[in-house]
Amino acid sequence: MNKKRKINKKNLFLLGACFLAVWGIMGIYFLNHKTIDTQLKEIGYGKEEITKLKGLLTSENLKLLTQYQYHSKVLSISEEKSFQQEKLEEYLKYLFQYPSATSYDIVFLVNQGKEGVPYNQDISTILNHEDFKLENLDRYFKYYQQHELEGSKIVYDVNHDLDEEPKTEEKDPNPVEPNQPEEKNEDIKALFLGKKYMVSENMDRYIQYYQEHKDLSIHEIITRVNSNLDKKAYEDIQKADASKGNLILVNKYYYLDKQYVPSNLVNVESTYGRGQLNQEAYQAFIEMYNDASVLGLYPYIQSPYRSYNYQNTLYNNYVKKDGKKEADTYSARPGFSEHQTGLAMDLGTSKNHSIGAFENSEEFKWISQNAYRYGFILRYPEGKEYITGYQYEPWHYRYVGKEVAQYIYDNQITYEEYYEYFIK
Ligand code: DAL
Ligand code: ZN
Repeated sequence: MNKKRKINKKNLFLLGACFLAVWGIMGIYFLNHKTIDTQLKEIGYGKEEITKLKGLLTSENLKLLTQYQYHSKVLSISEEKSFQQEKLEEYLKYLFQYPSATSYDIVFLVNQGKEGVPYNQDISTILNHEDFKLENLDRYFKYYQQHELEGSKIVYDVNHDLDEEPKTEEKDPNPVEPNQPEEKNEDIKALFLGKKYMVSENMDRYIQYYQEHKDLSIHEIITRVNSNLDKKAYEDIQKADASKGNLILVNKYYYLDKQYVPSNLVNVESTYGRGQLNQEAYQAFIEMYNDASVLGLYPYIQSPYRSYNYQNTLYNNYVKKDGKKEADTYSARPGFSEHQTGLAMDLGTSKNHSIGAFENSEEFKWISQNAYRYGFILRYPEGKEYITGYQYEPWHYRYVGKEVAQYIYDNQITYEEYYEYFIK
């Protein structure tokens, strides 16, 4: 009797444990489900759209979607005429890699097996050009890769079979006779005409740079001259043009006076960071912060506006510590810092304010891919040190407005290059 009661108790206990475990597993399952639904709701989906998306996407992709908020694009992709359900994964991959690509371009490129083509404005111009011919597709891309001309010129040249002419960017192997300098300059000029980002006022400088740097491509010479690399940093300088507003350029060639203080600075609230920032840039940061915080990410403005005097102290301390040559690779001299415009900010996270730790944070991962959507650019990118004049700074973001930021993000150029071609 006693034994039987014991067994019953044991069975009862086991039964209870199983019951709890099943409920636990179901609970976790529903909790996860609810999380994705809730997140989709939070980023603005209606019930119908969520059902539609769930039919279209795997749960892995759904998660990505909530994480990166590429939601509206996915719907428009699925509504494209030549959308193919079985290619959805590839469309998404392309979208996640090139978030600015239009849904038409994504579907078209993937359907044509061109998902390896890096997206930018010129590629889009080619695909949507009124004279675009499908049978020339490979030639457009090949010609673009070789010459990086503007999209419409690519279409024109290929349609007129001009891509087949061996266009010689290579230097003439026969030295030109010194008594014919005029002719030679004309020949060199021809190499630059029509090239992407060519600025006609810079032609004489291109020609001179070309003669001094025979090893560089035409494209590279344009990039360098447009970024003033033919001039002496901190010597051939001019006043930064404050009339350009949010699009002002300050670097080792464009300086701000000691007296220059931006007129529209606001105090940064302690939730978001410290110091002062340009009002419009601050609003954009708050917009970005709000979207990031939904994902559990909390960027922190650690160093925004800096006065001339503050930059002076900073720079002099760096020089004492590392010497002038080294300091110049990572700190601007007073008057030459973008921080003096109020449009730049160094970021940390609310957990760790240190800007040096920012690159290893989840916040950085998200911000480096999304900041452009709020009008910010990574100002000193990796690999572009020779153009910007500074080491890679994963923490330094600059406000330029959404349209400009999008262009710079898509085309992976520096602000130096953008400014010379589009703004100056
Ligand atoms: N670190 C950046 C270049 C500055 O000092 O403004
Ligand atoms: Zn900075």
